[in-house]
Amino acid sequence: MKILSIETSCDETGIAILESGAENTVAILGNALSSQIEIHAQYGGVFPSLAKRAHAEKITFLIQQALSDAELLEAIDQPAEDIENKLSFLDEKETDLKKHLEPFLTYYKKPDIDYIAVTVGPGLEPALWVGVNTAKALSKIWDIPVVPINHMEGHVVTAVFQRINEQDFVLAPIDTPILALLVSGGHTELVLCNELGTYEKIGQTRDDAVGEAFDKVARMLGLPYPGGPAVSKLAKEYRESFDKAQDKNPFVMPRPMMHSGDYDFSFSGIKTAMLYTIRDLTNQNTRELTDEEKMALACAFEDAAIEVLVHKTLKAIEEYGAQTVIVGGGVAGNTYLREQLGSSASKLDVTALFPEQWLATDNAVMIGMAGMLKSFSGEIKTASSDELKADGNLSL
Ligand code: KG4
Ligand code: ZN
Repeated sequence: MKILSIETSCDETGIAILESGAENTVAILGNALSSQIEIHAQYGGVFPSLAKRAHAEKITFLIQQALSDAELLEAIDQPAEDIENKLSFLDEKETDLKKHLEPFLTYYKKPDIDYIAVTVGPGLEPALWVGVNTAKALSKIWDIPVVPINHMEGHVVTAVFQRINEQDFVLAPIDTPILALLVSGGHTELVLCNELGTYEKIGQTRDDAVGEAFDKVARMLGLPYPGGPAVSKLAKEYRESFDKAQDKNPFVMPRPMMHSGDYDFSFSGIKTAMLYTIRDLTNQNTRELTDEEKMALACAFEDAAIEVLVHKTLKAIEEYGAQTVIVGGGVAGNTYLREQLGSSASKLDVTALFPEQWLATDNAVMIGMAGMLKSFSGEIKTASSDELKADGNLSL
C-alpha cells in the first residue's frame, strides 16, 4: 500500500511517498521538502500570506520530485482532457496553485498510489488550505481517496517508527500508557495516549510555545531565524566552557509555573526576563552584547525552558504511570532536552523515544507515517471533498 502525503501547515512545503511492507514496516520511497526560512527570516516569524504563496509556487514541483524519486512519475501518451475545467474549484482562491497543477495533471499519468494523506490542521489556515486543495485536486483527477491528518499526530507518530535500515522504518511494539511531549513553534503540550492512536491533552502552554520563545530569544541575541538551533548551539558552547572553569552562570532565568500543580506551561515570563536582563546589561541598549554574554544568556534561557519541560514531563510520567515517553515537534531536535529527558526517563525505567533530527521539524514523512499507523490499526478514514477542510485550531 502506498501513501502520498502532503504537509503545508507552516513554513515547510513537504510531499512524501511511503510504502507499507510486511510486519508493520514502512519504506520512504520519496521525500521532497522546501523550506521558506529565507522568506520569513526578515520578519523573525512566519508571515501567513507569504507562506501561502510560497506553498502554491512549490508544491507541484515537489509532487513531481517525490514521485520521480519513488519511480512513479510517468508522462502521459495522450494529454488528459478537460483538466482546466475539472480544477475550476481552484479559480477563486488558488489561482497560483492551479497554474502549476493544471499542466502537471494534463501531462502526467495517475501514479500507483492508494491514499493521499494531508495535514488539515492545526497551523496557519491560508497555508493549510494549499495542501488541502492540492489533495482535493489530485483526488479528483486521479480518483484516489484522501485521509485527513492532524499535524500534531504526525509529530507523535514520527518517534514511534524506528529505523531498521537506510530506507525502512518499523512500528515497534510500544509499552503503554505513552506520554507525548509536543514542542514546536506553535505548540507546547503534554498528551496522554493510553493506546497509540488515542490522545488526551493533559496540559498546554498558556501563552507562547517553547519554540516561539526560542525564536524570540534568538532575535534578542541577534541570531538568525529559526532561533532554536542557534540558541542551543551557543548554550552548549557556554556549558562546555563553564564546566571547565567551574564558574556559575551570572544569569538565572525564572522557571514559570514549574510548581503550579498542573501540566500547563508558560514561557512568556522567561522571555520578558531575558528582555529586561539584556536592557539592563546594555544600559538601555546603548551597547552591544559581548559574545560571552550572548553565550551565557542563551544558556540561562535554555536551562530554564528545558528544566520546566523536563520537570513537568517527569511529574506526568509518575502520575499517569507512563511506560514510554515520546517527544515530537521541532524542539524535539534540541540536544539538551534529549539528554536531560533521556537520562531522567532511563532512571525511572521509562523508554524515551525521539524522532531523528531531520524528522523532528515539519515534513511530509510524518504525515505519511500517521496515515500508515491508521492503516496498520485498521482505522484509516477517508473524507469526501466536501468534508475536507483546513482547521487552524484543530485539536488532537
Ligand atoms: O515543528 P516545527 O518544525 O514547526 C512548527 O510546527 O512549529 O518547529 C519549529 C520550531 C521553531 O520554533 C524552531 O526554533 C524550533 O522548532 N527548533 C528548536 C530546535 N530546532 C528547531 N528549538 C530548540 N532547539 C532546537 N534544536
Ligand atoms: Zn510542527
